[in-house]
Amino acid sequence: MLTRDQAIEAVKSVTAAYTAEPVSFRDVMVRDRQVSLTVLGASAAAQPALEASLREALARLGAETVHCRFRAAEAAPAAGAGGAAPPPAAAAPAAGGKAAAGAKGPVQGHGAGLASPLLSPDSGVQFIAVASGKGGVGKSTVTVNLAVALARRGKRVGIIDADIYGFSVPDMMGIEERPAVVNDRVIPIEKFGVQVMSMGFFVEDNSPIVWRGPMLGKMLRNFFQEIEWGELDYLLLDLPPGTGDVALDVHQIIPQSKEIIVTTPHATAAFVAARAGAMAIKTEHEIIGVVENMSYYVSASTGEKEYVFGRGGGAKLAETLHADLLAQIPLGAPDNHPSEPDFSPSVYKADSETGKLYLELADRVLSRCEG
Ligand SMILES: Nc1ncnc2c1ncn2[C@@H]1O[C@H](COP(=O)(O)OP(=O)(O)OP(=O)(O)O)[C@@H](O)[C@H]1O
Ligand SMILES: [Mg+2]
Repeated sequence: MLTRDQAIEAVKSVTAAYTAEPVSFRDVMVRDRQVSLTVLGASAAAQPALEASLREALARLGAETVHCRFRAAEAAPAAGAGGAAPPPAAAAPAAGGKAAAGAKGPVQGHGAGLASPLLSPDSGVQFIAVASGKGGVGKSTVTVNLAVALARRGKRVGIIDADIYGFSVPDMMGIEERPAVVNDRVIPIEKFGVQVMSMGFFVEDNSPIVWRGPMLGKMLRNFFQEIEWGELDYLLLDLPPGTGDVALDVHQIIPQSKEIIVTTPHATAAFVAARAGAMAIKTEHEIIGVVENMSYYVSASTGEKEYVFGRGGGAKLAETLHADLLAQIPLGAPDNHPSEPDFSPSVYKADSETGKLYLELADRVLSRCEG
């Protein structure tokens, strides 16, 4: 069986033999003959050949798939959220030890050396990542409403909007203020009893974010390191769509995270969401269950449920993942009005039909996480 140490040795020998430019690597992960790693500093022209050599070397050791991410060399740590201090450079080197030939210093994974009391195993904080294979199925809506429902049940809850480029949580919750910085630490915004942190707080005029690759993991790191989270029982992560680098970063930073997979009732959507589930299984994240969103529409005239997007996707996905279907949330925006004092476009009121369904979802999540 291919071990991580063997994989690291093989990667090291390939990168060391490559002398055209200084390349290094990090984040080597091995699971069931599947290897993933990040290569730093290789120019675009060099990447295909380097990737081929890595594949070959790892295949010789029995790897079946090799997933190579290429990223720019990391010179100095970039500034943190909102200009907060950069992460301390004294982080422990990632397992894999020294940097490969030519690199300037120890290479570190996004999770390496991250000192945050939240992340220590005895912090008592439960992490729940909300994922889907496909965009637009309602991950953010589910994250926000599950978080609010858990808070309504008396839990201390936070949300990390881990969709760095496509952040939407502040808007959805109707948050307009920006976080304060006290003693160089950023204080999350609290709304509906939930502490919220989002890249959206640090962007002017909703301008698009142009950072690439390594920034993603750094931001996620900063969201732990630079943020003054209060006491928490649950920290929910709203993931970007798909099964990309952020999912791996979450795995590295929070290996203990559990997952909820969101899908729509349509069979294809569930099929795509299964990919996110497969990813969760690969990273050994426990899947708490599946939430089917936009499940049906309650006809205003007859009161009957109309299954406008098909039926059965959530149940099928749950079966595929050997997980439970935790909730079926109907179509329909919250009945909120901008003139209300605590207005938000996306949070259902506790006594609305959908609000009650979210409370039931929260109860199921609580019984699975605490029961
Ligand atoms: N049950 C629902 N009924 C009606 N509209 C909904 C429902 N759930 C979500 N929506 C709307 O669908 C859109 C997509 O939802 P949301 O942003 O939560 O999805 P997402 O999976 O987070 O998307 P992305 O992949 O872009 O992050 C939003 O406009 C949201 O308000
Ligand atoms: Mg979203």
